[in-house]
Amino acid sequence: MKVLGISGSPRIDGNTALLVKKALETCKNKGAETEYITLSGKEIRFCDNCDACTEKTGYNCPKKDDTAAILDAMKKADAIMIGSPTYFASVSGQLKTLFDRTLPLRRNNFQLSGKIGGAISVGGTRNGGQENAIRDIQNWMMIHEMIIVADKKTAHFGGISVARNPKDALKDETGIATVENLGARIYEVTSAIRKP
Ligand SMILES: Cc1cc2nc3c(=O)[nH]c(=O)nc-3n(C[C@H](O)[C@H](O)[C@H](O)COP(=O)(O)O)c2cc1C
Repeated sequence: MKVLGISGSPRIDGNTALLVKKALETCKNKGAETEYITLSGKEIRFCDNCDACTEKTGYNCPKKDDTAAILDAMKKADAIMIGSPTYFASVSGQLKTLFDRTLPLRRNNFQLSGKIGGAISVGGTRNGGQENAIRDIQNWMMIHEMIIVADKKTAHFGGISVARNPKDALKDETGIATVENLGARIYEVTSAIRKP
């Protein structure tokens, strides 16, 4: 089982990075192979609806940047966990831009269909819109025909933390529990579904 974790924060070692890595660690400890990708420092250009990613071009996007490698990692994964800082009660611009660039995967016979997905968000204030950011991530997953899971035991919407400055998420024990439980649920459901 391969689990991919993506941090949609521009901060390389910020709270989203820390939380996505924690969730991956839970999967790894249970026996999964894991991969971590950060969007920090990556060049991801906007989808401008040029409509080139059709059957005619083999669903290839003409933009040459860091997106293709991330899409490849998504295709190889059995499960994908995506984390975002809460920005104005939504996902980061970097992550939204990546979401738009995944259009060729959907157009080309739903290449993410059936993969297990989970969402994480961290905001600087309690009730700062983390649930909305999580819903944005889950909407993207639904539109790709993915199977969404939430956190086991703490059981709400996925991983949610309150933290403002880098590493603050470590002090939020409740938040840490939700990401660990998301990792546990991702592993549980993926191993059940991927059984030969
Ligand atoms: C542009 C911007 C918008 C933000 N909007 C919100 C918000 O709507 N709600 C909230 O709780 N925190 C908000 N924050 C705070 C971040 O979510 C918080 O600092 C978080 O820990 C950042 O995660 P990171 O360390 O992974 O980048 C915002 C921060 C920035 C830079």
